[in-house]
Amino acid sequence: MELIDGKAISQAIKDELKDKVSELKAKGIEGSLAVIQVGNDPASSVYVKNKKKACEYIGIGSVSYELPEDTTEEKLLGIIKELNADTSVIGILVQLPLPAGLSEDRVLNAIDPSKDVDGFHPVNVGKLVIGEDTFVSCTPAGVIELLKRSGVSIQGKHAVVIGRSNIVGKPMALLMLRENATVTVCHSKTADLKAIAKEADILIVAMGKPKFIDADYIKPGAVVIDVGIHRDSENKLCGDVDFDSVAPLASKITPVPGGVGPMTIAMLMANCVKSLLKR
Ligand code: GUN
Repeated sequence: MELIDGKAISQAIKDELKDKVSELKAKGIEGSLAVIQVGNDPASSVYVKNKKKACEYIGIGSVSYELPEDTTEEKLLGIIKELNADTSVIGILVQLPLPAGLSEDRVLNAIDPSKDVDGFHPVNVGKLVIGEDTFVSCTPAGVIELLKRSGVSIQGKHAVVIGRSNIVGKPMALLMLRENATVTVCHSKTADLKAIAKEADILIVAMGKPKFIDADYIKPGAVVIDVGIHRDSENKLCGDVDFDSVAPLASKITPVPGGVGPMTIAMLMANCVKSLLKR
């Protein structure tokens, strides 16, 4: 079994991006990422802080909007409209989840697709579906980078994705298809999940259930990617995969923490640089 080191791979990506940003800066191309957080969900605050830190590391600006929990949709949409028009802003990110009462759909739809570095706008999702170059949701894009940079060949393999969220499962399946995998998508209503998971050459788990996937779900030699993040009964971080049970069977596996997690922000930075290049 080989560990897939997301921390090292994300660091390598950020270092590549840092070089690229300084090249662009020398040509006078620069801009900032706008990060909007509504309310003060503690997990969101950590993510937002890390996103701003990553901007600083690669050398792009960040402007942040920390808005109160009771912000109206009108006010939020007004800020997005201003940021859409601001040529110094190359990316707009609204941290999810939004407080109850704000429509995620209306808010995400308001972001200019050419600044949608999260890849959540329906125009960008549609482009992904038909295989056009676009901003892709950061976590699934990070999984593809992890696989490629760990020497996993995807073409012709049976990839099983467990989870069908708009942010991870669905774009993950589309990206694996784009890489010429044969893709099966499973979800909470799937009959005989075990049998299907056991057929996977590459198993990508994004179901949101702590330590749910044990050795019974694994074909010996499979590559196992764990997108989950939770706290277990001892308050330690864990994923959707029961690592101790699965690791002996897997050929390669991502740990939690230090697997997929750090890749999300690295790919957000990659999307920001992609946006800079288009300016
Ligand atoms: N909340 C959980 N994941 C994400 C993400 O990738 N982007 C944003 N904006 N919010 C999130």
